[in-house]
Amino acid sequence: MEKSPSSGFLSQDLGLDIAQTFFKPIHQTEPPSPTKRHIKITVIGTGNVGMAIAQTILTQDLADELALVDAKPDKLRGEMLDLQHAAAFLPRTKIVASVDYDVTAGSDLCIVTAGARQNPGESRLSLLHRNVALFRNIIQPLAQHSPDSILMIVSNPVDILTYVAWKISGFPSNRVIGSGTNLDSSRFRFLIADHLDVNAQDVQVTFFSK
Ligand SMILES: NC(=O)c1ccc[n+]([C@@H]2O[C@H](COP(=O)([O-])OP(=O)(O)OC[C@H]3O[C@@H](n4cnc5c(N)ncnc54)[C@H](O)[C@@H]3O)[C@@H](O)[C@H]2O)c1
Repeated sequence: MEKSPSSGFLSQDLGLDIAQTFFKPIHQTEPPSPTKRHIKITVIGTGNVGMAIAQTILTQDLADELALVDAKPDKLRGEMLDLQHAAAFLPRTKIVASVDYDVTAGSDLCIVTAGARQNPGESRLSLLHRNVALFRNIIQPLAQHSPDSILMIVSNPVDILTYVAWKISGFPSNRVIGSGTNLDSSRFRFLIADHLDVNAQDVQVTFFSK
């Protein structure tokens, strides 16, 4: 005999309204905020920089969904599992990973850290040529799957690759941001803070040009 679904059995034979019986509204609660929306962040490249960014996104509770993409499927799976297995200690975030850009669809922010490494003796110009070729395969699908997203470029040489990403994506310039000299400023602030024995967060660096 075919087993009838439990909800059908209860509602038909006992005359119970399942929704009313098991899911009672909680009193004195507010409806979900109409302004709260699902935030999705994608990180391309799960190397040193990409994983540091992914961990920061999770610990600071910056996204509802985190998508990871890398060219190496085994490495990608390992990094995803490491993050998922830390879920018990972190705010709730859905973590997905794939070599396929489908997984990035609907992202609000896409952070690109993928990049070829500089070979010993290789010039920055040669590295640039390799990374521009690599960016064609990254930026096009990203822009296609998340046409309203902000692109943040971290891969080096960062200013040139940010320009390349802007050109390839066709996005307006205010939605393509390079990490620029943030790291250098941060290093400078640390050095000043260390020298003065103060908190680096209290050091503000302002550059003046004539
Ligand atoms: N802007 C900055 O301030 C700043 C600071 C540090 C590093 N960087 C740059 O960030 C980049 C990443 O550095 P890292 O130390 O994480 O390097 P890494 O070698 O550890 O990681 C790079 C990752 O990119 C992946 N990758 C390569 N080609 C790919 C492709 N086509 N699609 C998807 N993934 C691909 C690799 O598999 C690897 O996991 C480098 O270009 C580095 O110079 C920039």
